[in-house]
Amino acid sequence: MKEKLQKIREEALAQLESSDTLDRLNEIRVAYLGKKGKLTAVLKGMKEVAPEERPRVGQMVNETRAAIETYLDSARKKIADKMREEQLKKEVIDVTLPAQKNHFGHRHPNTIALEEMERIFIGMGYEVMEGPEIEYDKYNFEYLNIPANHPAKDEQDTFYINNDILLRTQTSSVQVHAMEQGKLPIRMIAPGRVFRSDEVDATHSPSFHQVEGLVVDRNITFADLKGTLAEFAREMFGEQTKTKFRPHHFPFTEPSAEMDVTCFKCGGKGCRFCKGSGWIEILGCGMVHPHVLELCGIDPEVYTGFAFGVGLERIALLKYEIDDMRLLYENDERFLKQF
Ligand code: DAH
Repeated sequence: MKEKLQKIREEALAQLESSDTLDRLNEIRVAYLGKKGKLTAVLKGMKEVAPEERPRVGQMVNETRAAIETYLDSARKKIADKMREEQLKKEVIDVTLPAQKNHFGHRHPNTIALEEMERIFIGMGYEVMEGPEIEYDKYNFEYLNIPANHPAKDEQDTFYINNDILLRTQTSSVQVHAMEQGKLPIRMIAPGRVFRSDEVDATHSPSFHQVEGLVVDRNITFADLKGTLAEFAREMFGEQTKTKFRPHHFPFTEPSAEMDVTCFKCGGKGCRFCKGSGWIEILGCGMVHPHVLELCGIDPEVYTGFAFGVGLERIALLKYEIDDMRLLYENDERFLKQF
């Protein structure tokens, strides 16, 4: 019996010696000390041992078990130490390496153009307003003199949430919110994102930005509109910039116009940039239609107003001579870094 236990002990120790994972150690523990393990089998065979021998054999079994357990413990510790050492080696930090530079982003060309516009209009006493991007038909179309089935709705097809709620196609919707609040006079600009079901190309995107402007007060005339927008153009594009108003049609203004500015590349002589004409179109504008004032609860006999709408991307593209609108949305750092 003694030799048998001796053999079990040596065998177990040899196996522990040569194992290098905690899983393997556990296998060995089960194989020797487990319910069906080799040492347990010896205990189970005690009935064959003569009664007077039993205490001695029992003691030997216990010693063997203790020896195997001690060895298991130290093997476990050795493996754990080794794993920890490897982990530490992997995680060594070389403090002499140069630090990684932080990347600082900066303002997007759209934002730069918008902040410039806001600066100009705030300087003229305007306030900056915001309106919702998800809008009722009433604000985006109906109160702007574009009733159901008006052809202008076809040109500004958009994404409908239901028959009555849509993604706004123009920031002109904020005009209605401003007038509805009922506080007069109004001098505001309203920048924001608008949506149209347009295909993406160099000059179109299903989502872009506009800046709306609205003034409502007593005695506002077309002269105020012209003077204000001419001043805006000079500040935005340079002191020598001239402006020209071409008659146009918008349902919510009467009369309506589009404003051109002299090409800031060639000064109006005509170049590739302005396609030889010397002029560049930058916005739509007009006197607020009396019917729109009425719909919004303002008496057109007492108050008049003017409004305008500028495509923000258009300003950014012109100002920074970017020839493809898509570049503004790709967020390529190499592009954005240039502004
Ligand atoms: N909302 C018009 C558009 O998206 C632009 C516009 C034109 C706005 C004339 C105005 C305006 O306020 O008076 O095409």
